[in-house]
Amino acid sequence: MQPVFLDVDMGVDDALAIILALQSPEVELLGISTVFGNVPLGQATRNALQVLELMERDDIPVYVGADEPLVRQLVHAEAVHGKTGLGVAELPEPQMLPAGNALDFLVAALEGRPGEVIIIATGPLTNLALVEQQQPGILNQARRVLVMGGALAEAGNITPVSEFNSFADPHALHYLIKVGINMTLIPLDVTHRLGLAAEVIEARLSGRDDALACFVRDATRTVIDFEREHYGFAGLHLHDPAAVALAIDASLCQSETYVLDVETTGELTAGQVVVDRRPLSRDEEREGYPIDCAMGVDVERFMQLFTHRVLGEV
Ligand code: BDR
Ligand code: CA
Repeated sequence: MQPVFLDVDMGVDDALAIILALQSPEVELLGISTVFGNVPLGQATRNALQVLELMERDDIPVYVGADEPLVRQLVHAEAVHGKTGLGVAELPEPQMLPAGNALDFLVAALEGRPGEVIIIATGPLTNLALVEQQQPGILNQARRVLVMGGALAEAGNITPVSEFNSFADPHALHYLIKVGINMTLIPLDVTHRLGLAAEVIEARLSGRDDALACFVRDATRTVIDFEREHYGFAGLHLHDPAAVALAIDASLCQSETYVLDVETTGELTAGQVVVDRRPLSRDEEREGYPIDCAMGVDVERFMQLFTHRVLGEV
């Protein structure tokens, strides 16, 4: 089994990513850390605890991370994910308590199993930047760091050019790009190909009234309404589950190395990933750092994996 640590900001697709990880026999989920993002930190932590209890997995510890970005003003995305971050789902008050501090646990998990653990980050990168600042080199003890974030050739989703996670803490992403960890970016260029239609969710869950089916129906409602109203698509994009899927099966995506950086300060462009696409003959002349980016995805195989494991048999 592949040991995995999930760092989440607990919007709807973060919850689906956790469920996918828990339903995957290839994955050993060591723990979950929370970060501000789609919702404030306290709500993100509560959501993570509730989703684990929904899945009857209170054996998995939840650790609390950063409540604000390194430098920029705090932003959230309640308009997309609903007031609690989980659409209109109403889960019972969690009985579990957080198990401690995210940074301490990340250090212990990586030092305990050097070269083995895959870290999957599906929110702003603040926790990862802080742990690397505190202990330089620690993230290179990970087997891989999979980051859902950024938009390369694709348009943004929070601003015209920026994806939410890179926009919410561009300084953290910049730091990780610069220090050169073994990171793969999974940008909107890939995740915008992974649209799950509302009618597929309805059809797959039809006739079911178990807790998981009710949760998926209610949690996805707000984001589906948002996407329908703003983008004319009656469904949701499976951004964060894509990162988990890549830890399960690396052959699902094809990646390319680009020399890139992220804009940290621009009034219109903060959070924009800037790829140096100039036709330079010498790569050393490019601006930025070489970063592995998932650019192609086997849509059909991903969708099969996700629907089978999260929505169940037809
Ligand atoms: C990312 O932003 C959040 O809204 C989603 O959970 C995902 O991590 C997509 O831009
Ligand atoms: Ca997220």
